[in-house]
Amino acid sequence: MQESSTKKIYDVHSLFYDATFGRLVKRRIERAINHMNIGDSDLVLDLGIGTGASLAFYPPRGHVIGVDLSAGMLREARKKIRERGLTHTTVFQANALQLPFGDSTFDHVFISHVISVVSDPIQLVKEAQRVAKPGARIVIVNHFQSTNRFLALVEKWLCPLCTKLGWRSDLALNDLIKRTGVEVDYRYKLESIDLWETVVITNNKSALASHESHQTIAA
Ligand SMILES: C[S@@+](CC[C@H](N)C(=O)[O-])C[C@H]1O[C@@H](n2cnc3c(N)ncnc32)[C@H](O)[C@@H]1O
Repeated sequence: MQESSTKKIYDVHSLFYDATFGRLVKRRIERAINHMNIGDSDLVLDLGIGTGASLAFYPPRGHVIGVDLSAGMLREARKKIRERGLTHTTVFQANALQLPFGDSTFDHVFISHVISVVSDPIQLVKEAQRVAKPGARIVIVNHFQSTNRFLALVEKWLCPLCTKLGWRSDLALNDLIKRTGVEVDYRYKLESIDLWETVVITNNKSALASHESHQTIAA
């Protein structure tokens, strides 16, 4: 998925997202946000906030900043902010792969159904690690490639179709962990058979630094 086509695909999705996929993701998003323990003065970053399906579940404290590539998706998010009077929330257009924020800015970073949409999932996680404070929570909700070899093959086979719809189906969590150096605190699924998983990470800056220096040495 390249960002230029993602923008166009999600501008179209914005017309029906809330009535379709948006309905399916709510329970998962609500539960995942509860794992962030947001405090009174905390700053939360929601990467690829889309139409703002998450906005109903943030507590009315702290400040939430949402970014997204698609103007159409952001228009829907702004509508919710206006209608619900969410004065502690700001959204704007930005590329999550090159975030316009300084290092160690956020107390929590939420990445919901985005990691398999961006062109470079590794860079997305590295940007989250960079802008999150040391010890901050990074919570990822996504579909990851099955560890069952047969299902993994089916997912790989379906990937070209999924890419046309706006995401990829063959992203392996173990590969992501290996290539970013993140340390997963815990992960869970809502049901025993569930296509989506929530992964909770505590930002470990030294893991990012040592991972990057290993890569430089290897190069
Ligand atoms: C499947 S939607 C998920 C929206 C929302 N997070 C949710 O869970 O309902 C994926 C979103 O990621 C956004 N996106 C994709 N690539 C992005 C990037 N590089 N930077 C920012 N947003 C991106 C898309 O525009 C879209 O709104």
